[in-house]
Amino acid sequence: MFKSYEDAYRRSLEDREGFWSIAAGAIHWEKKWDKVLDDSKAPIYRWFAGGRLNTCYNAIDYHVENGRKDQAAIIYDSPVTNTVRTITYGELKDEVSRFAGVLKSLGVEKGDRVVIYMPMIPEAAVSMFACARIGAIHSLVFGGFAPNELAVRIEDAKPRVVLSASCGIEPKGAIPYKPLLDKAIELSSHKPEKCVIYQRPQVKADLVPGRDIDWADALKGATPAGCVTVEATDPLYILYTSGTTGIPKGVVRDNGGHAVALKWTMKHIYGVEPGDVYWAASDVGWVVGHSYIIYAPLLYGCTTIMYEGKPVGTPDPGAFWRVISQHKVKVLFTAPTAFRAIKKEDPNGTYVGKYDISGLKYLFLAGERLDPDTYHWASDLLKLPVVDHWWQTETGWAIAANCMGIEELPIKAGSPTKPAPGYDVRILDENAQEKPNGEEGVIGIRLPLPPGCLPTLWQKDDAYIKSYLSDYPGYYATGDGGYKDKDGYIYIMGRVDDVINVAGHRLSTGGMEEVVAKHPDVAECAVVGVEDQLKGQVPVGFVVLKAGAAKGEQDIQKEVVSMVRSEIGALACLKDIMVVKRLPKTRSGKILRATMRKIADGQEFAVPSTIEDPAVLGEIGEALKAIGYPKK
Ligand code: COA
Ligand code: AMP
Repeated sequence: MFKSYEDAYRRSLEDREGFWSIAAGAIHWEKKWDKVLDDSKAPIYRWFAGGRLNTCYNAIDYHVENGRKDQAAIIYDSPVTNTVRTITYGELKDEVSRFAGVLKSLGVEKGDRVVIYMPMIPEAAVSMFACARIGAIHSLVFGGFAPNELAVRIEDAKPRVVLSASCGIEPKGAIPYKPLLDKAIELSSHKPEKCVIYQRPQVKADLVPGRDIDWADALKGATPAGCVTVEATDPLYILYTSGTTGIPKGVVRDNGGHAVALKWTMKHIYGVEPGDVYWAASDVGWVVGHSYIIYAPLLYGCTTIMYEGKPVGTPDPGAFWRVISQHKVKVLFTAPTAFRAIKKEDPNGTYVGKYDISGLKYLFLAGERLDPDTYHWASDLLKLPVVDHWWQTETGWAIAANCMGIEELPIKAGSPTKPAPGYDVRILDENAQEKPNGEEGVIGIRLPLPPGCLPTLWQKDDAYIKSYLSDYPGYYATGDGGYKDKDGYIYIMGRVDDVINVAGHRLSTGGMEEVVAKHPDVAECAVVGVEDQLKGQVPVGFVVLKAGAAKGEQDIQKEVVSMVRSEIGALACLKDIMVVKRLPKTRSGKILRATMRKIADGQEFAVPSTIEDPAVLGEIGEALKAIGYPKK
């Protein structure tokens, strides 16, 4: 037990190994670790080296053997298909072991990769746990990504098998997944040996003879497979995330550190107990889904909700309150965008009154900046702690949070509170020197990172070091900028690179530029993320056309929008493309994207001294004005 937040935080940094070895006592190990923190290959650190365990055993079998066999493990709530289905820990163990048997029969072995392209259905969870059970490494791809993005991930992960479903369901209707998967496999030079397809009643997918197998057929006569013990340092999964270019980064998560850290966070950050109902309203394709829909709640013996729906429109802005009351949810975790969407449709929060949500104790928000307006609206409406916490795909759990299970600190709107135990967060200048409180800089975390954070990028140690550890020696560079106030509270001011967050979805403007630049009439382009009332940020594009462009401006704009949609996915939401005569640049030719963003957001900006021609900024302002920017 910790006396206070300060006590926990100090202990986590003064005696890292002692701190995390106590946390590791909550995990079932087949063999205890030799070393809590292996720093022999620093700056690449490994937690619990020499330890052996199985993550699926810890998340499912352990609970079946310890009195939770008949407790709900997963409640699948799908307003888009009118379904509610409860799966107990006992049933989940049966389904997962049988599907693990299917994977084994297809030749999948420990260390093999399996790509999962699935909507929010229980079979996605079964797929993940089945991989973990036999030591295969899963890599989920968010269903909203287009074939090209899926292909890039297949190419890098080289899966032996792909698991998918016939469709996802969006409020506007079913989205067939199989044609997207077929196209991705066609685009990729790596070809998976087999694809197992879960046929949903809404869409029947055509199967490729010899390669594709129907999920239900595969399960017939499957021999259940047991848990394979793996090294704590073996990868559990790879999750690709957007960086500054079109090539996503394969974030690796190991088995041991991940299980230890996530189980620890359930009590200490989220303040829940085993048996409680915990709901992360996100998607399994994102890190929040991996950590807090799937692994953490089950490692801790909670009931998790898999919600296939939206905050609004399925059927109304009371959707979240209905789920909370129906399933007795104690903690809700979602993105601020979801609350902005509810607020927009139900500004007075009248729908809350229709449901009994008295069991809800905390609302946690993350994934993008929580603007003070949304914070106050949610907090006034729900009258309970609204906890902003800051994290990233790379860390897998919160870097900064108000740790409800340790000590509830006063909440300051606009701040995710203080660093979580294990994270030595510093505000740095360009020379990696710490800045005083109150001054803004880039945010670094002093190495080593705590357990559960990425040990490296998939098969790219050098790229990991180059991308994250080289610019500020001794630190992990978060890519976010911000400051600490006089009380040590952290404020996140946004990314310092080309990553943006659209409705909590992490995307690369650099990746979008690569697509836009492929248009035959585009000479050069820039894509920047601008503020959006609902989605937090949306991308806007600027294109300079080649002399004698073959098509008219409007046609080019439409084509560029549709290229981004079909190469990255609808979730990119790039809708505004402006044709301009030139882009603002420095004398050395660097495009001044940050200044363009400030103009679009209506913020004050200083004309950079290195600018080639300041008049271009006026032209950009005019182009933006013509389509209604700045919005406020
Ligand atoms: N599969 C296929 N397409 C998908 C998809 C999926 N899993 N998810 C999103 N899309 C598509 C949508 O259908 C939409 O397509 P359209 O342009 O043809 O309409 C597009 O991608 C954008 O989707 P979305 O971001 O969901 O915007 P929206 O306007 O439909 O809905 C919100 C707005 C606020 C309701 C929605 O963004 C939302 O629920 N946000 C919360 C996000 C969240 O939980 N993030 C998790 C991080 S913790
Ligand atoms: P992702 O990897 O998709 O989780 O996105 C991580 C990025 O989202 C971070 O680097 C931040 O820029 C942003 N982010 C996540 N949580 C917060 C938060 N609570 N406040 C501000 N930004 C956040």
